[in-house]
Amino acid sequence: MSTATNGSQKDEHFVGIKALQKKGVTYDELMDIYDNCASQEYDQDMKGVGYMAPQFVSEYFDKHARALGIPKDALILDVAAGTGMQASILKEKYGYTRLDATDASQAMLDKARDTGVYRNFYCCRIGGGYKLPMADNTYDSAVMAGGLAEGHIKCDAFLELIRVVKPGGLIVNAMREANIRDVEEYHNLHPSFKKWAEEKKWECIEHVIPPIKHYMDLDGLVHVYRVL
Ligand SMILES: C[S@@+](CC[C@H](N)C(=O)[O-])C[C@H]1O[C@@H](n2cnc3c(N)ncnc32)[C@H](O)[C@@H]1O
Repeated sequence: MSTATNGSQKDEHFVGIKALQKKGVTYDELMDIYDNCASQEYDQDMKGVGYMAPQFVSEYFDKHARALGIPKDALILDVAAGTGMQASILKEKYGYTRLDATDASQAMLDKARDTGVYRNFYCCRIGGGYKLPMADNTYDSAVMAGGLAEGHIKCDAFLELIRVVKPGGLIVNAMREANIRDVEEYHNLHPSFKKWAEEKKWECIEHVIPPIKHYMDLDGLVHVYRVL
C-alpha cells in the first residue's frame, strides 16, 4: 500500500471504520469485528484516514501533566488501548515510560503487546456496570482515545476510571465530537461529567475541539479532568 493517501484511498480505509461506527451495532458485533479483522487492518485504516485521537490525548495529557507536576514515570492506564497507538505516541514522543493497557478485545491487545510499550495487559469490558479489575487508586492517570463510539464504552465507565486513578491524577479522553449528538448513550455524557464535578469526584480542566480534524473532515473533542 502506498504511504500517500489520496481521497479514494481514504474512502477505502473509511469502509472498515464505518463498520465499527454503524448505527445500532451491538457490543458483541463490535467485538467480533475487533477480534477477527479489525485487529489486522486497524492501524492501516486509522492511519489511512488521518486518525488523530491518540495524538490529541497525548498532547493534552502532556500539557496538563507538566503543569501539574505529574512525572514522566507516572503509572498511566491506557483504556480501550486497542493496538497501542496511544502508548506509542505517549512513550516515543512525550517520554512517558510506565503504561498499562486495558481493552475488551484480546486480539487488539495482542497487537498492543507487539509495540513493546506496555507493562501489564487487562482484557476486560468496561462500562454498563462492568468494572476494572484494579484496586482503587492504582494509577497516577488514565487516558482513552476512540473508546466512545456507537456500541462501545458506556458513560459509567468514567466512574471506574475515577476509582482507579489517584486523587490529583488526570483523566484525558478523545472522541469524535459528533458522537455527543449522534450516539444516544452519549447524550448523557456531559450531564454525567457535570454531575460528578458537582459531587466533587473530579474537576473539569478543559473540553476542547482541537484545531486539526479527528480524522477526514470530522472534528474531535478532548476532555481533560482531574480526580479529586
Ligand atoms: C476505536 S478503538 C481505539 C483504540 C486505541 N485507543 C486507538 O486510539 O487507536 C476502540 C477500542 O475500544 C475497545 N472497546 C470497545 N468497547 C469496549 C468496552 N465496553 N470495554 C473495553 N474496551 C472496549 C475495542 O476493543 C477497541 O480496541
